[in-house]
Amino acid sequence: MSVSIEHAQEVLRPPETGLAYLRHDRAGELTLEGGSLTLEGGRIAAFAVDQAADVRIDARGCAVLPGLVDCHTHLPFAGWRADEYELKVTGVPYEEIARRGGGIAASARALAGASDDEVVAQARGLAAEMLAHGTTTLETKSGYGLSVDGELRALALAARLAGEVPQATRSTALLAHAVPDRYTADTWMDEVEGMMGEVAAGPASALDIYVETVAFTNEHLTRMGRLARGHGLALRAHVEQFGTHRSVPVALEAGARSVDHLACLHPDDIAPLAASECAAVLLPGAEFLGAERTAPGRALADAGAICVLGTDANPGTSPVVSLPAIVGLAVRRYGWSVREALLACTLNAAWVLGLSAEAGSLEAGKRADVIVLDGPAAHVPYRFAHNPVWAVIVAGELAWVRPGSEDRVHR
Ligand code: NIG
Ligand code: FE
Repeated sequence: MSVSIEHAQEVLRPPETGLAYLRHDRAGELTLEGGSLTLEGGRIAAFAVDQAADVRIDARGCAVLPGLVDCHTHLPFAGWRADEYELKVTGVPYEEIARRGGGIAASARALAGASDDEVVAQARGLAAEMLAHGTTTLETKSGYGLSVDGELRALALAARLAGEVPQATRSTALLAHAVPDRYTADTWMDEVEGMMGEVAAGPASALDIYVETVAFTNEHLTRMGRLARGHGLALRAHVEQFGTHRSVPVALEAGARSVDHLACLHPDDIAPLAASECAAVLLPGAEFLGAERTAPGRALADAGAICVLGTDANPGTSPVVSLPAIVGLAVRRYGWSVREALLACTLNAAWVLGLSAEAGSLEAGKRADVIVLDGPAAHVPYRFAHNPVWAVIVAGELAWVRPGSEDRVHR
């Protein structure tokens, strides 16, 4: 199968080949020039038209981007929590919602009460929605199991999902999300330690932990880092979302691959984070819908951090699956350029998942994950809430075409 994407108005390309990531103070070096590309055998083959290709796509007036990478999602989960959202926006405090049985515990009950087929079917539907918004690689997380068996089941469901969606996926074991009933944070971490053999033998490539007053502490983060290192897994951490706990230096010391959220990041932690290879994963969907504080995205970018965007798709804080919408929020709220926002959900997001040799940029030899937009890249944030994606190619196969646009695809 060969695909020729022809005469695009803009093709987003990195300033050099072989970059594992691009620090955000260099985002302006990404190029957006007119061009064409050819995909062959599931790989990017050349930046030229192939008149003999099996599929030829007319990309005049369009931007062509690498497939988007959503490195922070909570798929698979069961059901939604819209009732809670209404309570939240009408002023009921989080603690009260939790007292009424809401929050992560509500999603844990929903997961426990749903069949495997139901959970995978819901997640498959969301992955299909993500695909239509340009996401060609996505992360999955456990975290709503809240028991040893529940977490192992969530990881198994994520693995099943991986086999049923067109996207490439990476599995993260969020083994410390909320303290399960009948445990303290310490005794639950003992259970986590006990299940590590089984987790490390499975497909998970990272461990994750939620550090917050209502969840786990910096000491538990250090312990999770030891477990990750001991089992050859990456460490990721939900930190500084609702309060400032100075978790970033702890995460850096523990060798974290990413620190995620950062709405309440302490200003003194910007420089050390920016000097490290640990990515700053910002989640403006959760910030917006939760009326959280705004992460210092501008300062992190100026300091040269490896900045990243994700949807944080989950039934509580961010029931959002569209990375173009996240780009729109990031540009407006962080004061980011279009290039900065696109870098954050392509190459730098692939770095978080350990996939930057395969995904995240348009380079010869990389997996042919490519999206075609219905206008220039500047329209992604500007036409907020419009889905700009009209064609999605995953590993060289046409995976989605917007209904009504089929006439631009010639087979
Ligand atoms: O990334 N902060 C912790 N975890 C999720 C929310 C999970 C939930 O509310 O269900 C997050 O925002
Ligand atoms: Fe999250």
